[in-house]
Amino acid sequence: MNNLSISSHPSVLLRSFGFVAFASLLFSAKPVYAENEQLTKLMQTNNCVACHQIDKRKYGPQFDEIPAKYVNEASAVAKLAAKIKAGGTGVWGEDYMPPQPQVSDANALAMAELILALTPKK
Ligand code: HEC
Repeated sequence: MNNLSISSHPSVLLRSFGFVAFASLLFSAKPVYAENEQLTKLMQTNNCVACHQIDKRKYGPQFDEIPAKYVNEASAVAKLAAKIKAGGTGVWGEDYMPPQPQVSDANALAMAELILALTPKK
């Protein structure tokens, strides 16, 4: 009886450790911005993906680092929407974002809003 409980103990421990490891793997494998399919689609259809990714720096700034710069700016959505269409330089470095005339006003606003709602990966 005693033997049985001693020998079963480690395997129970191992199994629960395995479960926790598996669960955390599931969590980390989950796309960080699953809720942002809408932003991803707009980025693809408006050619932003040539220079931007949500959570990695490409040519332009990674989108999830943008909100922190504008936390105290009430008019940030309008400002970024305008910048998305007009392009510009000097905010994130020397690189130049060309104007994006293919973007509609509505999509520029939608993307500015979605970008500013992103939370950086912890
Ligand atoms: C040819 C490359 C390129 C393309 C295409 C491009 N960007 Fe950019 N983007 C940049 C660069 C470079 C910057 C940094 C500009 C700066 O420092 O002022 C930038 C900056 C930004 C910023 C931050 C602006 C700021 O002032 O903080 C936003 C938002 C943005 N881009 C959105 C978009 C969206 C949305 C699209 C698609 C419609 C897009 N970009 C297409 C290169 C690009």
